[in-house]
Amino acid sequence: MDKIIIVAGANGNLGKRICKSLIEKGAVVKALVRKNSDSKKIAELELLGLQVFPVDYSDAATLSSILKDAHCVVSALTGLRDVVINTQTQLLDAAVSVGVKRFIPSDYSLDFTNFNDGENRNLDLRREFHKYLDAQPIAPTSIFNGAFMDMLTNDFPMIAFEKKKITYWGDARNELGFTTMDDTANFTSYVALDDCTPRYLRIAGHNINPKELKKVMGVISGSQFELMRMGAPKRLARLIKIVRFLAPQKNKLYPAWQGMQYMHNMIDQRASLKSLDNDRYPQIKWTKVNELLDTYYKSLNK
Ligand SMILES: NC(=O)c1ccc[n+]([C@@H]2O[C@H](COP(=O)([O-])OP(=O)(O)OC[C@H]3O[C@@H](n4cnc5c(N)ncnc54)[C@H](OP(=O)(O)O)[C@@H]3O)[C@@H](O)[C@H]2O)c1
Repeated sequence: MDKIIIVAGANGNLGKRICKSLIEKGAVVKALVRKNSDSKKIAELELLGLQVFPVDYSDAATLSSILKDAHCVVSALTGLRDVVINTQTQLLDAAVSVGVKRFIPSDYSLDFTNFNDGENRNLDLRREFHKYLDAQPIAPTSIFNGAFMDMLTNDFPMIAFEKKKITYWGDARNELGFTTMDDTANFTSYVALDDCTPRYLRIAGHNINPKELKKVMGVISGSQFELMRMGAPKRLARLIKIVRFLAPQKNKLYPAWQGMQYMHNMIDQRASLKSLDNDRYPQIKWTKVNELLDTYYKSLNK
C-alpha cells in the first residue's frame, strides 16, 4: 500500500482514530496538526507511525507542498465559521492546487442535506462549506453517521443510568441512528483509501428507538427502566428558542441550545438513516448499542 492520505485535525478525538485505522491498513499517513500543538501529542502521533506536520493553514505554499501526491485529504477539524469555512477552505484550495483527487470534509453527523438553514447552526456551516466544495475540481465524499454512540454514556441525554429512565422527545417508536467513533473512523479510513466513492455515504452502527433502548437497559442492568416522554418536537423547538435567548453563548461550539437542536434534528424523519452504506466494506463489524452499553455498565459497577 503506497497511498498517501492526509488527515487534518489528527490530534482530535476522531482524527487520531482515523489515523490509527489508516496505519493498520498500511497507508502512508501525513498528519496535519496546528503549529502550536503540544509536543507530547505530536510524539504520540509519531509513535503510531504517522508523519506529523505542524502547519499554519494560511501558508498556502507550505500546505500545498505537503499535500502533493496525496490520494485523499480527510478533514477531522472541529470549530465554528473560522474552522468549518475558513480553515477547511484553505485546506481544500491547497489540495486542488496540487491536483489531489478526493476530499472528505469534516461532517460526521446526521444527514443534514434535507434540512433548512436556521435548524442547526453547526450543520448550517457544513452546508455552506459544501456549496464551495461542490464547485471545486475535486471529488468530495461526506460521511453521515448519526450521533456518536459513545455519547449515550454521557453527553447524549437519553439514558439516566441512576434514575433508571430513558428520556425521549416525540414518538418512542422512531429510530435514532448511532455509530461509535471507532466504527466511524474505520469506515472513513476505507473511504479515504477507496478509488471512487459517492458524494454521500450514510452509516449507522445501530438504528434504535427509545422503546428498544429501554429493553436493552433492562437486560444489561437486570432492572426495569422507565420510558419518560419529554414532549412533542414542537415543545422542544420552543425550548430551544428560550434557551438560545437566555444563554446565547454564540462563540461556544456546543452551547446547550445547539445540543438541543441536534436532538430535534435526530428525531426528525428527514435525518433518518434508512438507506445505509454499512455493507460497502464487508470487513467492518458494527458495534451495537447493547454491546457498548454492556461494557460501560460493567465498568460502572466494578
Ligand atoms: N456525530 C456526532 O455525534 C459528533 C460528535 C462530536 C463530534 N462530531 C464531529 O466529528 C468531527 C471531529 O470532532 P472531534 O470530536 O474529533 O473534535 P476534537 O477532538 O475537538 O478535534 C478537533 C481537531 O480540530 C483541530 N482544530 C480546532 N480548531 C482548529 C483551527 N482553528 N485550526 C486548525 N485546527 C483546528 C484541533 O486541533 P488541536 O488538536 O491542535 O486543538 C483538533 O485536532 C467534527 O466534524 C465534529 O463536529 C460528531
